[in-house]
Amino acid sequence: MYFEQPGVENTEKTLKCAIDRLKEDKTLNDIVLASTTGETALKLVKMLEDAKLDRKINVVSITYHQGFSGEDINPMSEETANMLKSKGVNIVRATHALSGVERGISKKFGGYGPVEIIAETLRTFGQGLKVAYEITVMAADSGYISTKKNIIALGGSSKGSDCAVIIKPANMNNFFDIELKEILCKPKNKKKTI
Ligand SMILES: Cc1cc2nc3c(=O)[nH]c(=O)nc-3n(C[C@H](O)[C@H](O)[C@H](O)COP(=O)(O)O)c2cc1C
Repeated sequence: MYFEQPGVENTEKTLKCAIDRLKEDKTLNDIVLASTTGETALKLVKMLEDAKLDRKINVVSITYHQGFSGEDINPMSEETANMLKSKGVNIVRATHALSGVERGISKKFGGYGPVEIIAETLRTFGQGLKVAYEITVMAADSGYISTKKNIIALGGSSKGSDCAVIIKPANMNNFFDIELKEILCKPKNKKKTI
């Protein structure tokens, strides 16, 4: 499925697209999603409850690392984190796989290193697809998913979700073993055209 524009307005359709696929394919048991504030993760949990699937889905919600939006700032409130945890969601708040210390180097000295170039190359497919790669590695490195089983990963353009993919995970030390299996939905345009 292709959305005309990128952005948060595609969130419900993206989540539905992922859940429809879980209904069809019982070999998929994990969803990894980017959710900075936890808002999208809460929507997903509610939609999964309503879908009444015949099995438990492992939901891994990745937020920004502390300090991403300013010194010591944590974008997810304690209340939201607790609510998500009470629903069985695994929350990851860690160094971003596709920037890491390299971001500190480019900020201080300028230029780009190979990791940020990988990120920028993936962004040519849209922000959400780059995010899907990044959070898949972060979820695998946190131990919440196996690298042996395909998962669904959801990313977005700054807020919400607009891209869902089926992906075979890899850890960061084997990054190039990651394999994009299917694109379930994504925006056609990288930037809003209207
Ligand atoms: C680790 C991480 C990296 C992200 N990188 C980008 C990015 O490069 N570009 C972008 O548009 N959004 C990026 N995002 C935002 C997500 O794609 C997503 O839209 C957002 O986390 C949803 O948060 P919400 O539930 O608070 O709306 C990133 C989020 C996380 C957690």
